[in-house]
Amino acid sequence: MVFTLKKQIMENNRDGFSGKFGVIAAAAGSAIGLGNIWRFPYILGENGGAAFLLVYLLFIFVMGVPVMLSEFVIGRKAQSNIIGAFKKTAPGKPWYIIGIMGIGAAFMILSFYSVVAGWTLEYAFLALKNNFAGKDIVEIKTIYDNLTAGSWNSVIIMILFLAITALIVSFGIQKGIERYSKILMPMLFIIIVLLCIRSITLAGASDGLNFLFKPDFGKLTTNAILQALGQAFFSLSLGMGVMATYGSYIKKSESLGKTAISVSLTDTCIAVLAGVAIFPAVFAFGIEQGEGPGLVFVTLPAIFNQMFGGYFFAVSFFILLIIAALTSAISLLEVVVAYFSEELKLNRIAATWIATGATIMPAIICAKYGAVFNFFDKTSSNVLLPLGGLLIVIFAGWFMGLNKVRKELEADGRPARYFKVFIFIIRFLAPIAIALVFLNSLGLMNAGNF
Ligand code: PHE
Repeated sequence: MVFTLKKQIMENNRDGFSGKFGVIAAAAGSAIGLGNIWRFPYILGENGGAAFLLVYLLFIFVMGVPVMLSEFVIGRKAQSNIIGAFKKTAPGKPWYIIGIMGIGAAFMILSFYSVVAGWTLEYAFLALKNNFAGKDIVEIKTIYDNLTAGSWNSVIIMILFLAITALIVSFGIQKGIERYSKILMPMLFIIIVLLCIRSITLAGASDGLNFLFKPDFGKLTTNAILQALGQAFFSLSLGMGVMATYGSYIKKSESLGKTAISVSLTDTCIAVLAGVAIFPAVFAFGIEQGEGPGLVFVTLPAIFNQMFGGYFFAVSFFILLIIAALTSAISLLEVVVAYFSEELKLNRIAATWIATGATIMPAIICAKYGAVFNFFDKTSSNVLLPLGGLLIVIFAGWFMGLNKVRKELEADGRPARYFKVFIFIIRFLAPIAIALVFLNSLGLMNAGNF
């Protein structure tokens, strides 16, 4: 199978997902990753907990799902990469700028994402060598601080991660990955559930649950709302073309609506579980909730240390997390590679290595300079993705033609009963809400803190 796929790719025919499960696995593979397990808890911790969670959930279902569906529609209709898709559906119009922004965002995200994936790889090695055993929070934090201080070691391991991603994308063995993910991701899920159980049974855990589930709207700042929006887009891989590109590989017989809902539900479920695993422990161990990007990397080994079979679970967890990160990184690289190979007519292997080569420099800078890392992290999630999403829904809602949208949604032969609601959201609700959040965070509205 690998070989036929490779041949297909070499001949530059468009590849497709095998079936319903393949589509959901690939899109969920993109969505589920470090965003759920590393980024979600740290952003939630910085933004006050439960009230943030509520806003986040609202954004996922009111905006995330419709944006995802719009991307699927655009991609599947155009059968093309993210820039080509707009050139095809709106010839002679500047909408393809959305695609250019998307490619820019893909490079930016891939750069800092690979750094965090590198830390995860290093953690898997450390766990394998049993290096965390018996260490307390302070000692674990020292390990994390040394690892992330921008050593060349972390650079090399980051490049290793990028190279693995590139190998998979260039040889087109995604199908193989897809197949394993179907077994591996449920295993990751089981370990997270076990982590949750251990975490909520720690002494002092209830404060963490309160933090996560008892909203204090006084803590909901303007900035927190923007962060929730950014995190919703980041976690669902929206606003930069991943879902449009994957949409172009979805067969006409698949239901786009069901796919969007299943992917969003699975993704959200994993993020919330990650929160339940982390916060009780954060409070029990006296870690600062606003610790930042290190939050999870300091907390997790401490939970494993308190767990029966901790060594086994820690090793498995970090390996599975790397695989989750890989399927997300693959989707980021795929956006660029699909563009390079289709529009610039490069062969797929050259396209992959050029795109990867171009990522290495910014990624090294992210590994070495925390400020650049943060800038890339925050700008891509809080600005580029929501802005991309805003333009995407405006395009699908106002410019693509409702008939075409409907036809694409119903291509599987079933009526899209949600059509009116969907159109209302993408025409009015989502664009207005995104615009308001932006204006609000620019201080142009006087909403202040709720
Ligand atoms: N959604 C991925 C995650 O949560 C990250 C990602 C963002 C992937 C944007 C593709 C595009 O880990």
